[in-house]
Amino acid sequence: MVLTAPPVKARGLVKRYKDLLAVDQIDLNVNAGEVYGFLGPNGAGKTTTLRMLLGLIMPTAGRVELFGRDPIREGARALDGVAGFVEAPRFYPYLSGRKNLQMMAALDGGGRSERVDEVLALVDLTDAAEKRAGAYSHGMGQRLGIAAALLRGPELLILDEPATGLDPAGIRDMRVLIRRLAREGITVLLSSHQLAEVQEICDRVAIVRSGKVVYEGPLADLRGASGQSYRLHTSDDLHAADIARAATGIHRLVVAGPELRFQASEADAGALSLALGHAGVAIYTMAPTLASLEDLFFELTEGTATGNRQPAVDVTSTPKATQ
Ligand SMILES: Nc1ncnc2c1ncn2[C@@H]1O[C@H](COP(=O)(O)OP(=O)(O)OP(=O)(O)O)[C@@H](O)[C@H]1O
Ligand SMILES: [Mg+2]
Repeated sequence: MVLTAPPVKARGLVKRYKDLLAVDQIDLNVNAGEVYGFLGPNGAGKTTTLRMLLGLIMPTAGRVELFGRDPIREGARALDGVAGFVEAPRFYPYLSGRKNLQMMAALDGGGRSERVDEVLALVDLTDAAEKRAGAYSHGMGQRLGIAAALLRGPELLILDEPATGLDPAGIRDMRVLIRRLAREGITVLLSSHQLAEVQEICDRVAIVRSGKVVYEGPLADLRGASGQSYRLHTSDDLHAADIARAATGIHRLVVAGPELRFQASEADAGALSLALGHAGVAIYTMAPTLASLEDLFFELTEGTATGNRQPAVDVTSTPKATQ
């Protein structure tokens, strides 16, 4: 076994259900110590991918390695140091949170029961430890799921939508918890369909849509890669729009009320300003604006273009409706 093998390496993962390609050639690389976000809308293939990573279902094609070991070929041995949950953690509802963890620790063997108090404290459930798990709030249930995973002393935690369904305070608590685990050196791979839930904690993300990765990298680069957004107001916006359409490097042109919006590099925006001047169109304002990450995420996941690994504006050429 290679000691430096990354926590997660997946190549060409495919899962087909009859005619449906739930996962279509996904590559993933999660490095040690990262919090990695696996983002995409409902039905994008997140849970299916995580199931394949955990060896819970067979890939139709492709390979998975966790710390260099293949969970399909090597079974439970490959999951040494790996824990987490897919869809939702399950517990005996009539037993307390503590009792549930004690039972899991006993099943897992290896004298893990002394860790029960420690993990309960880590996820902030000490005060609710004697309460029936069935009476836990959704957020408490999610945290109990993480506690159960932590019992195994994982180096890699795989969490499917840990923050989904939580209220803002619950989401904040979940972020704090995940950051704390990351500080302790645990690599975290978590999925979410809401960028806002996870954007502050993820070092890198993969954004999936219809089973394909449409972006992989740091979120900061996603913003940078789509070019700068501009607002443009001229003496003749309709004429300006025609010129912009004919210009090179002008993307996502939208006529929005009394102004135009587009994305372009600085050089292409400069060239457009010259073209407008030549055509006798006066520029009243050409102001750079910052595209919101949420907008970019929405366009990547809801746009009409087909999957594209390049985090470029051309991933979607769908103009937004004019307000
Ligand atoms: N066992 C199965 N049999 C048939 N189709 C399945 C099965 N599991 C998943 N699918 C389909 O595969 C696609 C991806 O599902 P998956 O659960 O991976 O999406 P997801 O990204 O986790 O979505 P969500 O955000 O709703 O949890 C969906 O179209 C789903 O209906
Ligand atoms: Mg899912």
